[in-house]
Amino acid sequence: MNRKGIILAGGTGSRLWPITMGVSKQLLPIYDKPMIYYPLSVLMLGGIREIAVITTPEDQSQFQRLMGDGSQWGLRLSWIVQPSPDGLAQAYLLAEDFLDGAPSAMVLGDNIFFGHGLPEALAAADAQTTGGTVFGYRVADPERYGVVAIDAGGNVSAIVEKPEVPPSNYAVTGLYFLDGRAPELAARVTPSARGELEIADLLEIYRAEGTLKVERMGRGYAWLDTGTQASLLEAGNFVRTLEERQGLQVGSPDEIAFRQGWLDRDGFAARAKLFAKSAYGVYLAGILRE
Ligand code: DAU
Repeated sequence: MNRKGIILAGGTGSRLWPITMGVSKQLLPIYDKPMIYYPLSVLMLGGIREIAVITTPEDQSQFQRLMGDGSQWGLRLSWIVQPSPDGLAQAYLLAEDFLDGAPSAMVLGDNIFFGHGLPEALAAADAQTTGGTVFGYRVADPERYGVVAIDAGGNVSAIVEKPEVPPSNYAVTGLYFLDGRAPELAARVTPSARGELEIADLLEIYRAEGTLKVERMGRGYAWLDTGTQASLLEAGNFVRTLEERQGLQVGSPDEIAFRQGWLDRDGFAARAKLFAKSAYGVYLAGILRE
């Protein structure tokens, strides 16, 4: 399908101050890569090549320095500024021209997913032409997230943002597949008590019309938290543990582009050469020799 991607990478990062006073949260390292590489990789695994990156006005140039126009990965990146962090649902208003009626997959720039079967789960969500899909993940502390209540028939009965009394243990992860009406429906959302256009309110519109699906990401998945200093470090350690054990990288856009056939051998070899001095490049060179 002609689904387009959005990476929402704005926000003040104030929960991580002073670290994020001088640099965007989504550019911080998760072990050996900038954080945004991980959600970018998820969209790429979903087969999405046309992607808008939404940033704060101050941080846009740094993201562009890192990612350019995306052609190094066979992607087309568009750049959109969010003047102030007025809520996740605002992303659809800002991206309306970019989407131009297309269905979308939006991922939050600080969300890290890992798990066997992820490409298949993304393909299933992509195949749904009307409505939307969200991914539920069981967590010990659901009150820190958007929470999805699922009825006996597996249908979404409610989505609530950071409830004091969570209706379930399933957090709504920061990955949203919505149909082409998302900008139009987002325009109906009004600011919440905290002054934000809440993604939960947009999802509620889909739920009320009966077109919102929830896919559970089972216990074989890791959905990592980057919201606190400690969880940031733990996410990095998780990636390091896996990569050292397996000799495979998590979240390498270069590897994914090559394996998807979006980068030919010469293009990929040039990337490996560019990074030759870092472990990232050594890894890419190893793939070339496979
Ligand atoms: O990570 C998943 C959770 O993300 C969901 O379970 C919640 O339903 C959803 O509201 C969101 O919760 P957070 O508490 O993590 O939201 P936060 O305000 O921290 O924003 C998430 C990311 O999006 C963060 O990296 C900053 C960015 N952001 C946020 C807002 C409000 C923007 O780029 N623009 C914004 O306007």
